[in-house]
Amino acid sequence: MRSLLSMSDISAAELDALLTRAGELKKKIRAGQEISSLRGKVVGLLFEKPSTRTRTGFEVGALRLGGHSLYLSANELQLSRGEPVKDTARILGGYLDIIVARVYAQETVEQLAQFSGIPVVNALSALEHPTQIIADFLTIVEAKGKLRGLKLAYIGDGDNVCNSLVMGSAIVGMNISVGCPEAYRPNEAILEKAQQVAMSTGSTIEIVDDPSRAARGADIIYTDVWVSMGEEAEQQRRLRAFKAYQVNARLLEVAKPDVSVMHCLPAHRGLEITDDVIEGPRSIVWKQGENKLYGAAAVLEWLAVQPR
Ligand code: CP
Ligand code: NVA
Repeated sequence: MRSLLSMSDISAAELDALLTRAGELKKKIRAGQEISSLRGKVVGLLFEKPSTRTRTGFEVGALRLGGHSLYLSANELQLSRGEPVKDTARILGGYLDIIVARVYAQETVEQLAQFSGIPVVNALSALEHPTQIIADFLTIVEAKGKLRGLKLAYIGDGDNVCNSLVMGSAIVGMNISVGCPEAYRPNEAILEKAQQVAMSTGSTIEIVDDPSRAARGADIIYTDVWVSMGEEAEQQRRLRAFKAYQVNARLLEVAKPDVSVMHCLPAHRGLEITDDVIEGPRSIVWKQGENKLYGAAAVLEWLAVQPR
């Protein structure tokens, strides 16, 4: 039984096939073609945190493929009254065909997978956000025609999105340079694993504290929020720490002239990115946002339809 709990759960070949399929589904869905690959399947979305894109992308994705979806807000489940994750998992596993879960602890998606007996998709944990990276890579292929050999500069917090991007870049052979404060580096265990993968794919991973050094010569500049969900208590400290890590017109000057700017959203204009950059000609943020739907649909098709 395959699940997608971490970016490192996908091989290069699987990722390639997933991106090709996401592109095909994009054409079909946009053309209003009927797709029935998920007919009879029920997708459960167990969410502990808010979501606009990921939730709607997976719900609409399930519907467009002929399946059904159920939104299960964790605070309306008995989980909120202390029912263990493993008990919840065993019950949901008997009702559903696949669980898409947005959680605080990575351990929660791992337990859901261990005890449900059905595929589980990590729709964001504090550690990783793998389905985001699938949509991102589809967007980069559309903009640049390839992934391998490009330079992606990630500016800001070494958070869940950054962790999955580092691993994803290593898998596809894209060079990644993370510009972040020393105290907010990506997860060290993921970095180590990604370094090993990068050695075999020939890509480079660089972590620097100077954002303009990270952005120099970049094909893509990517940023995310400075205060992730669950970190609200650290807001003031974080706003101070990331002040010099804004994606703005000055930073874009050191990148390639045709640099594309990405943000997984939601964005905070005037903090991690300026309004002129996110609304400007280098931004591919809105295409990236749309692609969350096609990435989600491809992931559902890949995982919900497997022999049990
Ligand atoms: N990028 C992303 O995951 O957005 P949501 O939080 O709206 O799902
Ligand atoms: N790092 C952000 C991503 C939101 C999609 C968060 O975890 O809140």
